[in-house]
Amino acid sequence: MHNSQNGAAVVASIDAPASGGKGPLAHLLRKDCVGCHTNSVDGKTMVVSNGTTYPIVFNTHVPTENVLAGGNFYWVAQTGGDAFGHNVYPIAGVDQTLSRAPGSITCAGCHTSLATSDTGCTGCHNSVRHHGTVRYPNPENASSGWYRFLSAPEDTDHTGVGGAPVLGIEDPNWEHNADASHHNVYYGGVSGSNEDTASPESMGKFCAGCHLGFHSNGATFSAGGVNVNNGSGAPGNPWLRHPADFAIPTVGEYGDIIGTSYDPTVPVGKPMTTDSGPAPDSATGNTVQAGDTVICVSCHRAHGSPYADMLRWSYSEMEINTTGAGAGKGCFKCHSQKDGK
Ligand code: HEC
Ligand code: HEC
Ligand code: HEC
Ligand code: HEC
Ligand code: HEC
Ligand code: HEC
Repeated sequence: MHNSQNGAAVVASIDAPASGGKGPLAHLLRKDCVGCHTNSVDGKTMVVSNGTTYPIVFNTHVPTENVLAGGNFYWVAQTGGDAFGHNVYPIAGVDQTLSRAPGSITCAGCHTSLATSDTGCTGCHNSVRHHGTVRYPNPENASSGWYRFLSAPEDTDHTGVGGAPVLGIEDPNWEHNADASHHNVYYGGVSGSNEDTASPESMGKFCAGCHLGFHSNGATFSAGGVNVNNGSGAPGNPWLRHPADFAIPTVGEYGDIIGTSYDPTVPVGKPMTTDSGPAPDSATGNTVQAGDTVICVSCHRAHGSPYADMLRWSYSEMEINTTGAGAGKGCFKCHSQKDGK
């Protein structure tokens, strides 16, 4: 009640947004984000306590069941683990290799590092509304915190620089046991449109808010150039970087796979009826084929993974003509004729 017992503080705040990261936690809470979303007992990634189910994003023991959709911070927390996830306060110290988000602008704080005490979880989860009004399946408004509480910072410091909240449809157990018909639906934007202006609420554009240069319509950044190289001002062949937020063709090698069955190990973005809010029926049906997009999270986990660069699968298994463990997975899910088939 007073954050005081026998004259000493009860909780040492590590992440209290309302008090700038210092002092007791907001809302009289005893635990912060990491406190509630960590499992330090075993490798389970969903924990039920007193009837409440906690989605676990950080296990201090190696996860022994499926990681949730965003992955897990376990690997980035290990010594030498920098490349395996976002270095997030207070789980992992500042990344020793990357001095800012690759592909990004430089501005102190979240674009430079998420491992400082004023950033952390709330560098990305900028609209946390655990008690929002309409939580599932598609919390498409501010009072419900948008998709997984993801948005640009709501404080006025960020006003005028753009950025948007994220739309999407939430799997009720965070893809703990996802399959072709139980999974999140990532909003992929309006196919063929300019993501920056027409569909800023897509998941791909959210990542690109901090990694601007790595998506199709990204602005130039210091590493030079964007994907636009075909003279028309539109993204396309020949590619300079792997496309992201780009419609997957329905013909050729892509036609073999895309649209037939959704694979949560290689998710794609889905078009939704309007940009002001996804239409649940058309989106959850997942019948839309033309317009599926390759997005950042087709290849990456948002939090971290057992693979370098937070990939969803082992890059070293992605050998051309392989009939081994990587066949049909990862890259070959889309580039379905490049493995040993
Ligand atoms: C008191 C414990 C507690 C604290 C503190 C807490 N969470 Fe949660 N969080 C939960 C529980 C329980 C759920 C699952 C039930 C729900 O979605 O409300 C959850 C769900 C979530 C989700 C998934 C939302 C969704 O749409 O399914 C996100 C994202 C999240 N929390 C982020 C955060 C962040 C960021 C913080 C710190 C600002 C935080 N949480 C602090 C207990 C907590
Ligand atoms: C709020 C800003 C921010 C957002 C949003 C963001 N990132 Fe990052 N990202 C960073 C920063 C800062 C780094 C460099 C430090 C680090 O690795 O933590 C980084 C690093 C990375 C790395 C390299 C990891 C490594 O250490 O080698 C990958 C891959 C990545 N981000 C992917 C993503 C994806 C995918 C998304 C969307 C789900 C995303 N990022 C959203 C800030 C952001
Ligand atoms: C770089 C941005 C970023 C940071 C930093 C970040 N998250 Fe997330 N988080 C995401 C994204 C994106 C998703 C949605 C993943 C998906 O649906 O694929 C997510 C999903 C979640 C979920 C729902 C479970 C799941 O995996 O879908 C919880 C809970 C959560 N985050 C908590 C946290 C906590 C706690 C922290 C700090 C320790 C944190 N996040 C830091 C981007 C971030
Ligand atoms: C609390 C974390 C945080 C801080 C601090 C922060 N940003 Fe951001 N910024 C974000 C996130 C998260 C996004 C991605 C939001 C989105 O696109 O939906 C973003 C996106 C952006 C974008 C891209 C917008 C777009 O439409 O593509 C710009 C530009 C930007 N920030 C500028 C800045 C500048 C300049 C500063 C320093 C004054 C700053 N930010 C500080 C979290 C932060
Ligand atoms: C088709 C798969 C794929 C897509 C889509 C993709 N990436 Fe990557 N990304 C990779 C691979 C593979 C690597 C590792 C490259 C290597 O090691 O040579 C990587 C590396 C990275 C890195 C680390 C760069 C560095 O300098 O260390 C960042 C950051 C990153 N990706 C962010 C993103 C963001 C943001 C998006 C969406 C705008 C995205 N990626 C889309 C496959 C992908
Ligand atoms: C979710 C689907 C998807 C995944 C996964 C994927 N790609 Fe792609 N890739 C595409 C699409 C779509 C294009 C653009 C096709 C076009 O321009 O017609 C593309 C284009 C490319 C190109 C450029 C080809 C050209 O003609 O310019 C290369 C190279 C490539 N991908 C390699 C990879 C590698 C390596 C991986 C794994 C790390 C990977 N892709 C994973 C969908 C995917």
